[in-house]
Amino acid sequence: MTSVTNKPLLITCGLPYANGPCHIGHLRTYVPADIYVRCLKKLGQNPLFVCGSDTHGTPIVINAEQQGTTPEKLSTYYHRYWEDLFKALAVDFSHYGNTDAPTNHFRTQEIVKALQENGYIYPLVIRLAYCPECDRFLPDRYVEGVCFFCGMPARGDECDQGCGRHLESGEIVDPKCKTCGASAEYREEEHFFFKLSAFKDFLSTYLETLGGTANARNYAQQWVTNELKDWNISRNLSWGVPFPGTDLVVYVWVDAPIGYISFTEEATSTWEDYWKNESTIIHFIGGDIIYHHAVFWPALLKGANYTRPAAIVASGMVKVDNETFSKSRGNVVWVDDDYLDHGFHSDLLRYYLACYTSHTKELNFSWKVFGEKVNHELVGSLGNFIYRTLLFAYKNFGYIPDTPVDAAITQEIAATREKMVNALEEYEFKKFVDAAMSLSDFGNVYFQSKALWNLVKSDKEACAREVKNCIQLVKALAVLLEPVMPSTMKGVQAQLGETSTQFSDATVEVEPLRLNQPDLPFAKIDEKKIVELEATLSKRMAGLVQKTPANEVRTKIATIELEDFKKMDLRTARILDAESVKKSDKLLRITLQLGDETRQVVAGIAKDYRAEALIGTDVIVLANVTPVKLMGVESHGMLLAAEHEGRAVLIRPSQKVPSGTKIK
Ligand code: 2FM
Ligand code: ZN
Repeated sequence: MTSVTNKPLLITCGLPYANGPCHIGHLRTYVPADIYVRCLKKLGQNPLFVCGSDTHGTPIVINAEQQGTTPEKLSTYYHRYWEDLFKALAVDFSHYGNTDAPTNHFRTQEIVKALQENGYIYPLVIRLAYCPECDRFLPDRYVEGVCFFCGMPARGDECDQGCGRHLESGEIVDPKCKTCGASAEYREEEHFFFKLSAFKDFLSTYLETLGGTANARNYAQQWVTNELKDWNISRNLSWGVPFPGTDLVVYVWVDAPIGYISFTEEATSTWEDYWKNESTIIHFIGGDIIYHHAVFWPALLKGANYTRPAAIVASGMVKVDNETFSKSRGNVVWVDDDYLDHGFHSDLLRYYLACYTSHTKELNFSWKVFGEKVNHELVGSLGNFIYRTLLFAYKNFGYIPDTPVDAAITQEIAATREKMVNALEEYEFKKFVDAAMSLSDFGNVYFQSKALWNLVKSDKEACAREVKNCIQLVKALAVLLEPVMPSTMKGVQAQLGETSTQFSDATVEVEPLRLNQPDLPFAKIDEKKIVELEATLSKRMAGLVQKTPANEVRTKIATIELEDFKKMDLRTARILDAESVKKSDKLLRITLQLGDETRQVVAGIAKDYRAEALIGTDVIVLANVTPVKLMGVESHGMLLAAEHEGRAVLIRPSQKVPSGTKIK
């Protein structure tokens, strides 16, 4: 896509779930995509770059339930979080939307209706996991069990620890409710299926010419050759885009990619030029969602008569310290807590992600390598060349000499630029950066070989020409590396009185200018800092510090008005009786004296309190919480307890007060 096209050009990034904070693994999609878009602009293209928050789906509903908030509040919080985070990382979308916006509800329903009219959706009565305790159907991640195909533990709609298959309802054996742990049963209900199997021929031909990275094409081709099953695209949830004419919602993997269309609609009134006519659409995604983008999504677009993507660029996996990244094991580097909050510049991480390895290969993040890359490559080579050139020119001339640049230098720059543009064509960001870094090495060798510190004494005019050559190399590096490290490289250009808009500027001779004392483009990272960061990661993996920043988020989301607090009927109560709930090692059935009334509550404190020891003691109860059934036992209130080192500690009045006393 590096030769200028007149067709509308759209670049998208896989949508982050508005469900949790950003870790380094996420950035493997966003940073290269942003670099690519910045490069396209410097090649004279006019790309539109859209992304947005993926706000629907069961993980968000479950997380909201666990955090005591609503999916809407949780996803709004994270939507804003991601929007700010992208700004902090200089990932510069033309538009960042969210899939719960009215545009996306409308577009999703339009597409579902179009698919229905075109005969690609059919109803089918299926067996669905149902929790008799919670009294509800269990879509996707509400259910856990064993994968029908490989026998590994699996959850919801995917076998993430075993064969990696997308699982349809009924393909989880021995299903359990994720919320209460009870065994689920299968019940029958009508759902709606997308006829993916009807697109086999279309997909085979489509994939032959699909651009992007070979991993996406090859992986998708295997699926199309072997197995194309129809997809249930409706779910029993209340959070999501309503499925037209039913009480169900549309499956999140339908309304999420449709977000690409609705965000384009929100960005420009000419959106149909991208999605209804001939255009070039390029999706940047993580390697784990190739199936959804290269199989399911083109079929959906074809079925509803929308333009299909021209290229899919899928990144390789990210590891941390050579181990598979895992949030639950604490093997994760959080972008704000672990990186930005320590004062590191986003440009350094952008550089690391772009140049560690080929885009489709596995990327390992370690603080040690990060420190080495910054100190050796950015400070030691690139920064050194830029700084020593500018300092030498400032000290010995005070201005950029008004002499022509040698043809050999211009050729070296032009050859580098060509290599970089070719690398972009292949989505090889490492080759792109490596070519520029070779030019920086060339500059260092050149500076050294000309022994400018001697030349300035013996032949100042000859020295001025060499200084000009070096300054031209500095300019070229700043122009060519600006897409990777925008803020630092713009800073270097500013010191030369330049603001480049095009890669072709790299060979345009730098104008004479009075120079100021130069700034160091990069600062060395102290070894001690690296050791400290490695220690934080090890502690987290050993479970000694919090694994995710979730608690902080919980507090932020859960701010409430005083009026809301007053709605809670909190009272003192005396425990009259307590016993274990059958078949549960966590729950106690407790009878309370609450003023004139006796009440039954169920509390999850059996691991921390013996039933007999509770009798006669006073507690605080939330008396007007909606009654629930836990393991078949009704609970008409909630005891207040502090959570300390994973244990429940009951809150009690500090002196005897009559039971039923109101707490304000
Ligand atoms: O896997 C994910 O993180 C999804 N939220 C990606 C959705 S991309 C697209 F389909 F919208
Ligand atoms: Zn499996």
